[in-house]
Amino acid sequence: MTEANQPRPEPELARARIHFGSDHAAADLRLELAEAARTDGHMIASDAGPLTEADSVDYPDIAVQVCERVLADPGSIGVLVCGTGQGMAMTANKMDGIRAAVVLDDFSARMAREHNDANVLCIGARVAGPGLARLLLQTFLGATFAGGRHARRVAKIDAAGG
Ligand code: RB5
Repeated sequence: MTEANQPRPEPELARARIHFGSDHAAADLRLELAEAARTDGHMIASDAGPLTEADSVDYPDIAVQVCERVLADPGSIGVLVCGTGQGMAMTANKMDGIRAAVVLDDFSARMAREHNDANVLCIGARVAGPGLARLLLQTFLGATFAGGRHARRVAKIDAAGG
């Protein structure tokens, strides 16, 4: 058998450990995204939030809970969904070590990881439909931080505000 005919190992799937969270406005989307991520081979490390839209909660409580889990689990990713993604991101970005990005398009989903080393993805369930949200999650999880000059800039993000 020539070398070219040797069976090749399957390319290793980059499995992410994901901490999910949503408020009531995005309960359905959160459950759908978690199922999609599981199907894609990722690990659902934790899940926070109501199971139905009828069970109202305050998004900052969920954002803090999920970000604490991300910080306690180095290398993991947080996914926070609410109506717009904005309130989740505003809360998450107050926490040291969290870089949360509200993402609504595929390019930004990739750049948020490659250039900004975002560790939390925020999506608005009242803005993005489930198909787009799933694509954004796949792109975010499939991208990696580029390092180099971006590392210097990300260090400045982390240092900003004392
Ligand atoms: C809840 O009504 C809504 O305010 C919340 O889901 C989110 O959009 C906040 O940013």
